[in-house]
Amino acid sequence: MRTIRVHDKVFEPYIPGLSISERIKLMARQLNEDYNGKRPLFIAILNGSFIFAADLFKELAIEAEICFIKLASYKGTKSSGQVITAIGLDTEIFKRHVVIIEDIIDTGKTLNEFLPQLRHQQPASLKIAALLHKPAATVYPISVDYLGFSVPNKFLLGYGLDYNGLGRNIPEIYKLVE
Ligand code: IMP
Ligand code: MG
Repeated sequence: MRTIRVHDKVFEPYIPGLSISERIKLMARQLNEDYNGKRPLFIAILNGSFIFAADLFKELAIEAEICFIKLASYKGTKSSGQVITAIGLDTEIFKRHVVIIEDIIDTGKTLNEFLPQLRHQQPASLKIAALLHKPAATVYPISVDYLGFSVPNKFLLGYGLDYNGLGRNIPEIYKLVE
């Protein structure tokens, strides 16, 4: 097996780049249908989602805007349980159709804290697009409206996901070897 080492840990291939791009095309097709004429505002959550957000956004054929916020709750391979807003929202969302772009929903804590702040600003609608979801890890219930892959409760790396800062540039998704 083609394993890689990042810091002190070993990872094995899990989702090939081609499967990711095929899945993203299908997600985009659905978004194109659902948001045609609505000029949606996509809010991508940094850092992890920057590659997914870019690839998904390129596949959209409708009028759409994107902006970025920075939230973080992870330290190493475990969720710290604390969500910090490092860069806030600078765009008005009142009466806008908003779609959150997340790389991965793990415990759900990040979105659970952020969604009420957004709802408070009364968007016309608020949906979630996530590349990955770990249902077995989800403590705070989050309904994912556009999902790439449902994955087991394992630490993943690559395609924007990091382990202590490294691995984001790997073009496919790897899984921790335990
Ligand atoms: P949550 O708040 O527990 O849902 O965590 C969500 C955030 O934690 C994601 O946006 C990622 O940035 C990070 N995260 C969760 N699981 C993983 C993983 O398996 N690898 C790398 N980062 C992860
Ligand atoms: Mg993230």
